[in-house]
Amino acid sequence: MMTKFGSVFIQLASVDSTNNYAANLIQQGSCQDGSVIMADYQTMGKGQRGNSWQSVSAANLMFSIALRPKYQLEEQIRLSWYCAIIWQQCLFRFGIDAQIKWPNDLYVGERKIGGVLIEQQLKGATLDWSILGCGINVNEAPERMQATSIYQETGQRFKPLTVLTEYLELLNGQQNLLYGDFLKLKGLFEEGMGFRNQPLQFEKNDSQPFEGIILGVNDQGQLQMNVNGTLQSFANQEIRFLLPFT
Ligand code: BTN
Repeated sequence: MMTKFGSVFIQLASVDSTNNYAANLIQQGSCQDGSVIMADYQTMGKGQRGNSWQSVSAANLMFSIALRPKYQLEEQIRLSWYCAIIWQQCLFRFGIDAQIKWPNDLYVGERKIGGVLIEQQLKGATLDWSILGCGINVNEAPERMQATSIYQETGQRFKPLTVLTEYLELLNGQQNLLYGDFLKLKGLFEEGMGFRNQPLQFEKNDSQPFEGIILGVNDQGQLQMNVNGTLQSFANQEIRFLLPFT
C-alpha cells in the first residue's frame, strides 16, 4: 500500500516545531500515514546537527510529513535520497536549477535554499515511522547565512502552500522511485548531487581541515570522497563542508 502524501492536512499559525507536532500525533496513536503538518511560524524550529531553523512568519515553507516507511531499517536512506531528488524536481518547476548538497540540503550555486530534517521512530529493530521535515526559503532568505530563496532567484513571489502542493504532487507521483530499484534511486541522487569532482575543504569533527573530492555515496548514504588518492567514506555529522558551503 502506497502512502498518500497529504492524506491529512493540518495547517497551523504557530507551533514549536512541525516535526515535534507530528511526533506527538504519532505518540497519541492518532496519526495517519502521509499526514502533513504545515506552520506559518515555528518557535523552536529544528535543523540538522542540533541547529535551530528560523524563518520569517508566513514568508517561507515549513512543514513535516509523518509516514510509515515500507522498507527495512537498513534501507532508511531511501527517504533522504527521495525527498532530495523530489525537491530538485520541484524547484525546477519554479525555474530553479538547484543541486543537492550532501546529505540532503538544497543549494543554488553556493547558496542554501532549503533543508531537510528526517527523524526516524523505531519499534524494536523495525522502522515504524519517519518524520520528514522540510524548510524551504520561498520569499525570504535568512540573513545570517549565505542563503537564497525562490523569490531571490526568480523575482517571483509564491505562496508557501503553492510550493507545498507541487511537492506533494511530485512525492505522490513517484513512489515507484521511493520503493523501487535501490540502485536506480541512488544513481538519481548522485546525479543530483552538487559540488562533485572538484577539490573542496572539509572539516572532520575538530581536527584540521582537509581537502577532498566528492565522488558519490555508498549504499548506506555515506559520502564517498577521494582524499589524497584514497577512497574514504564519511557518515552524516562526521564531517562538515567548510565555508562558503555550510
Ligand atoms: C537543515 O537544513 O538543517 C534542516 C532544516 C529543516 C527545517 C524544517 S522546518 C519544518 C520542520 N520542522 C522543524 O523543526 N524542522 C523542519
